[in-house]
Amino acid sequence: MSLLEVENLRTYFYTQEGIVQAVDGVSFDVERGETLGLVGESGAGKSVTVKSLLGLINPPGKVVDGTVRFDGRDLTACSERELRREVRGSEISFVFQDPMSALNPVFTVGNQIAEIVEYHTDRTEAEARDRAVELLDDVGIPDPEQRVDQYPHEFSGGMRQRALIAMALSCNPKLIIADEPTTALDVTIQAQILNLFDEIQEEYDTSVVYVTHDLGVVREVCDRVAVMYLGKVVEHAPYDELYRNPRHPYTQSLLRSVVRPDERADDLDPIAGTMPSAIDPPSGCRFRTRCPVAIDDCARVEPPRVDVGPNHDAACILHEDEYGYDEPALHERGRP
Ligand SMILES: Nc1ncnc2c1ncn2[C@@H]1O[C@H](COP(=O)(O)OP(=O)(O)OP(=O)(O)O)[C@@H](O)[C@H]1O
Ligand code: SF4
Ligand SMILES: [Mg+2]
Repeated sequence: MSLLEVENLRTYFYTQEGIVQAVDGVSFDVERGETLGLVGESGAGKSVTVKSLLGLINPPGKVVDGTVRFDGRDLTACSERELRREVRGSEISFVFQDPMSALNPVFTVGNQIAEIVEYHTDRTEAEARDRAVELLDDVGIPDPEQRVDQYPHEFSGGMRQRALIAMALSCNPKLIIADEPTTALDVTIQAQILNLFDEIQEEYDTSVVYVTHDLGVVREVCDRVAVMYLGKVVEHAPYDELYRNPRHPYTQSLLRSVVRPDERADDLDPIAGTMPSAIDPPSGCRFRTRCPVAIDDCARVEPPRVDVGPNHDAACILHEDEYGYDEPALHERGRP
């Protein structure tokens, strides 16, 4: 049994402009001790997906369908109180993109970590403080004994992100959900934080869902990847396999749009057009308005995810038997 099993998740926002189908039938799972990357352009539905897992969607948003099974427990059937006391921050914790908004400026970093430890465990105040020092040390903050009593504004951006990761680790969660945790950081610090995630996994054997729009980041940390486009998972595979053998035209375009170590930035080939609105998404395949190899039938049927290799699936009509998948032609037509 996987640690996390998400099946057919649908989260809609009922706005004045119409119903935003932000997440529309998303399924994936996460094994114990592995890192799953959730990748896609801005607006693909990555953040809404991970917030939905933990009941963090507020009106006008609503999880309208699907199941989220975590460690054998159906989270969609849990009350807000159960989620707060027994799941969020203890079994599953979050690391957000913007550490400044996640840290409270009027309390010391140590206080904020200790508070979580006290809330979720039976440690005393003094023990919780010791644990905070230990955690700051674990995430590579120098002089943790002094730093523990400092306020968030006394930390640099990279250190604040480390502090947030320390908070996320404070109750030995089984799963950490990290939503673009390095986007606001410069490249060197970003690399350090990615290394830290690697170390954490080795030491704590935590599973991680790592949300990012950056396939380069995925390469650093992820075992498997689910690629999202306009509220759907369009391809899913182990990272090496996805990188070597992408089978969905969107993934192929995404890979062509990132700098590889052997390429120069001006060889980049950005994806044409922009993602359509999730209020009235294209019929059939949602990628068809930008797909370089679309055929007429793509507008008629929504392609299901079909197996295209071991542990590898893609949702493209061209993989269905009656169409036949002509890989060289696809690549050729995809490259102008
Ligand atoms: N509170 C809300 N009300 C209405 N629509 C929303 C709300 N939150 C998100 N959406 C819509 O849901 C869709 C998915 O948004 P989401 O934030 O999950 O994207 P994302 O993949 O995380 O993008 P990014 O990379 O920019 O963070 C978008 O169309 C967004 O406009
Ligand atoms: S189903 Fe059609 S439009 Fe969608 S990715 Fe495949 S070829 Fe392109
Ligand atoms: Mg997001």
